[in-house]
Amino acid sequence: MTKRQIESILSQLDSSPTPRHLVGYLASKLLEAKFVDYSVKGQKIGEVGFKVKAGSLIAWRNGRQTDKSGFRIVGAHTDSPCLRIKPHPDDRRFGFNTLQIEIYGSPLLNSWLDRDLGVAGHVVLRSGKTKLFRSDGSVARISQLAIHLDREVNERGLVLDKQLHLSPAWSCDPKAPSFLNWVAQQTKTTTREIVQIDAQLFDTHKASILGSDSSLLASSRLDNQASCWAAISALLESSAGAATQVVALFDHEEVGSASATGAAGPFLEHSLEQIAAEQGISRIGFLEALSNSSCISADNAHAVHHNYPDRHDLSHGPIINEGPALKLNSNQRYATSSTSAAMFIAACSKAKVKHQVFVSRNNMPCGSTIGPITATRLGIDTVDVGIPQLSMHSIREVCGVSDIVSLNLALKAYFK
Ligand code: CO
Repeated sequence: MTKRQIESILSQLDSSPTPRHLVGYLASKLLEAKFVDYSVKGQKIGEVGFKVKAGSLIAWRNGRQTDKSGFRIVGAHTDSPCLRIKPHPDDRRFGFNTLQIEIYGSPLLNSWLDRDLGVAGHVVLRSGKTKLFRSDGSVARISQLAIHLDREVNERGLVLDKQLHLSPAWSCDPKAPSFLNWVAQQTKTTTREIVQIDAQLFDTHKASILGSDSSLLASSRLDNQASCWAAISALLESSAGAATQVVALFDHEEVGSASATGAAGPFLEHSLEQIAAEQGISRIGFLEALSNSSCISADNAHAVHHNYPDRHDLSHGPIINEGPALKLNSNQRYATSSTSAAMFIAACSKAKVKHQVFVSRNNMPCGSTIGPITATRLGIDTVDVGIPQLSMHSIREVCGVSDIVSLNLALKAYFK
């Protein structure tokens, strides 16, 4: 990874505590590269642009022959498991002002303990405008019980009650501002102006390169912001080809994708239809274009853990920094087909990068992602791939630096 690439991914990760922060950050990068923002409803769209819908983003560059060559789509997700702040969060317990939280997706709960946490999100104002905010530094902490009060924890394992044990303390002074007052200060508005708050906790520890050989990247939200980085970078670094290039980044993957802005919603389909219509392609031509299209769904994979090799089928377990993994599941938890796999393998060989294969153990249920959903909605040949990582759904995950570059190169070769 070049110095510029490292700075670029670290900056994205540190700037993006929530899906909306992420799409805002990526939108600014697209604008710098002369992509036009077509998010406002009802306007004609142009050849190189993007649309933002809440925490989701679709960006494209028109092809010269979309009806014959179709769309080349790279999909990924913008959300990560986390702890969100409930609407009436304020509570006072034994000298602490605490916040009530709701669990989003399936985080490794223990990883949220004893961290310096910030709060980020957005508000909807009376004017209808939304405004993003994030705390400057750390403002909250969920403390683990001392070992003296939980003697068997190292033998029995940590057991957390999801309602009782996950409330962060965030101040001590009984006269400290309420959550609403604090958000009003953060957003430089008034409590009267704020109609709704959407907020979550995040780790204030910045993303970092680690390892004596600087081969690893540790950060929050690598699943799946690492794929978002590889996808948007590939689009920015490509030039127009025969097919229309599309990057689709969806919110709500971690909770099943069924939402207005999730992969199961109509955002991608409607955008593709609009892109085709603006290219003068008829409805029949659009359906023809879809049948000539393909999709790479990029979402991180489980690398073989050096301490738990028994959790993998070792002939199908991806090794860190050995290239992106092709994810296969004959029960269609992954969308990969023989032809879409061949397409990804061809992109990797064109890019001169290695790839690996992931199939889970038969006695281990397999995760899923946006690939099968996109394939089902649009009937497009789709391949599920992903950078191998450890600690998936931990507040701090780790992946291989060279794998991110390999994915980026393979996606660029795919667009070409
Ligand atoms: Co994921």
